[in-house]
Amino acid sequence: MPDFPDISKSLELYARANKLIPGRTQLISRRASQFANGVSPVYADHAKGSRFVDVDGNEYIDWVNAVGAVILGHADDVVDRAVKAQIDRGSLYTLNGPLEIDLAEELVETIPSAEMVRYTKAGGEACAVAARIARGTTNRDVILFCGYHGWHDWYQSANYLVDPESGEYPFAGIEPTGVPRALAGTAIPFTYGDTAMLEALFDEHAGKVAAVMMEPVRSELPDPGYLKAVQALSRKNGAVLIFDEVSCGWRLRVGGVQEYLGVTPDMTVVAKAMSNGYPMGAVVGSQEVMEPAGRMFVSSSYWSDNTGLAASLTTIRELKKRDSERRFEEIGESLRTTIDQAITDSGLSGRCAGLYTNPGVALDLPDPRLASAVATLFIQEMARRGIHTYMGFKATLAHTEEDIRITGRAASESFSVIKKGLDAGNLDELLQCDIKKEPFRRLVK
Ligand SMILES: Cc1ncc(COP(=O)(O)O)c(C=O)c1O
Repeated sequence: MPDFPDISKSLELYARANKLIPGRTQLISRRASQFANGVSPVYADHAKGSRFVDVDGNEYIDWVNAVGAVILGHADDVVDRAVKAQIDRGSLYTLNGPLEIDLAEELVETIPSAEMVRYTKAGGEACAVAARIARGTTNRDVILFCGYHGWHDWYQSANYLVDPESGEYPFAGIEPTGVPRALAGTAIPFTYGDTAMLEALFDEHAGKVAAVMMEPVRSELPDPGYLKAVQALSRKNGAVLIFDEVSCGWRLRVGGVQEYLGVTPDMTVVAKAMSNGYPMGAVVGSQEVMEPAGRMFVSSSYWSDNTGLAASLTTIRELKKRDSERRFEEIGESLRTTIDQAITDSGLSGRCAGLYTNPGVALDLPDPRLASAVATLFIQEMARRGIHTYMGFKATLAHTEEDIRITGRAASESFSVIKKGLDAGNLDELLQCDIKKEPFRRLVK
């Protein structure tokens, strides 16, 4: 069995961060407690293609890829060349840059719902802009939503609708502290797939619903007709239908889930993978819903930053050039087959479930309360073997069959450790770390 990697420099930095940075990281998904804390690397030194090297010099195959933000592979030569060339010409001008128009034209050509475009620098920010535009366009306040849409007040205010006693917050231990209580009731969650619930919410808030904002797909495809039914209800009630494709966009189809499923919303939010690791986000939509934004206060200095625009334009063109849709299917299916085989070889029961763009390990456990310990042990044992992953895998175009083969071997050995721990009832003894904190939990499924 391989030794545990030396991650002492990572842990030193993490201890220093504790004094300087509240919460230690800028993104909750980067906290050490989200992985095998004490075994998984915490700080990276550099990254290229499908791999990164941590500050202690250990190399890992990366299946997290900045939670999906990296899509072509780390430090992609073509995107980085375009960004470097732009840096030499200036990143932020006093005037507007023509790349704003070039990217808008590319987005309009690519995303079915896009006729007009606004930019941001992040996904949550773009969701907040979409909420503002939808409210301004309809002159209504209530937003019905499902899925995760970032850290902003409009969305986090929904936590006030949740019973604090039950602890049902989207992140364990993180409460809506600092979010104005006055916003309670302005953003209301609904359950994915439950058309009757959505209809009832429309009835309850008749004439007040500005928008329905939802992730059209997360890990599985919806029942046929579901998104069409949501669209029909939104139309009937005069609400703007917004697809948040920040996480589900780009990999399945470059034009998004909406292209794949043939349902065109009124507005779409994109970010993350659109620029392969450079900050960018966008709200796109029909002229009818977007045009009134010209009369709303939606404005920020760095939204015009040319490096993000150059990165995004190049990334989208490269996705098209590199036959990304077919490649993601190939990589995802190959990974799924390999992980399935690893599960079978270990004697565990389960499968690699979910869409090929977001496959994840789903084990049948004797007791569901063991899930966190098993997930932590899997992450720990994979880290030990040079694989950085959650229970789910987010591929890039840089991942090769060799990466999948190495990952499969590591998974096979890791599942065997889990099987032994389950059989002997000593999972805790095998863990070199605390059990992973509640993973990123969405307000509603
Ligand atoms: C669907 C969805 N919307 C919004 C966001 C927020 O994006 P960002 O972290 O860039 O603010 C995320 C991030 O995970 C997301 O998955």
